Amino acid sequence: MTLNAAQLKRQAAAAAVDFIESGMVVGLGAGSTALQAIIQLGERLKAGELREIVGVPCSKQVAEDAERYGVPLTSLEDHPVIDLTIDGADEVDAQLRVIKGGGGALLREKIVAQASRREIIIVDPSKLSSMLGTLWAVPVEVIPFGARSQREFLERLGATVVKRKTKDGAIFYTDQGNLILDANFGPIPNVEALARALNDRAGIVEHGLFLGLVTDLIVAAPEGVSHQKLEG
Ligand code: A5P
Repeated sequence: MTLNAAQLKRQAAAAAVDFIESGMVVGLGAGSTALQAIIQLGERLKAGELREIVGVPCSKQVAEDAERYGVPLTSLEDHPVIDLTIDGADEVDAQLRVIKGGGGALLREKIVAQASRREIIIVDPSKLSSMLGTLWAVPVEVIPFGARSQREFLERLGATVVKRKTKDGAIFYTDQGNLILDANFGPIPNVEALARALNDRAGIVEHGLFLGLVTDLIVAAPEGVSHQKLEG
């Protein structure tokens, strides 16, 4: 039987939720794959298989989802260190470097990842890439003030830039009230250099290159589920 994308997402999520232990503070990622982890975490709490879990949501939508599926919430104010985060990704390379932000939650996702002892990324094989930028544009969150100059800055760095819109064609605003510029660089030979350039620019709040943050990658493929752990 061939598994469809939704079934693969559920499998990847189940493998990640297996690492959650009672009493943990868990980072709750955004997107359709991470949602499967929230649903399964809620089921395990309901069944009494896990106890005393609190979740830190990576977006307002995730907070709503967690409440719906019975995962108690906390904040980074109350729990500044997270034991384990489960999140999705848009593109992953062999060194577990990642592009995130397809859902626009990259800033909170990166804050949560940096606060996490363990950052588990769950994907299906369509997200695997030999060079970041091949499959996905780099989402860049900018404050509205001076957004046009950020766009031109990204273009000077070699990107084709699209201001993100909602499905209805309205301007997309992040949970912080900022804009997203999707910067398509094509394959990026030196992601570290690009990340530094973006980090150095005033007005760019954050970008979707997650470098050195992912500790584990779980890939659910039709042939089975694999788990890669970064040593060190
Ligand atoms: C949210 O901002 C993103 O980083 C998501 O984690 C990413 O877009 C993956 O989403 P899916 O699991 O829905 O593909």
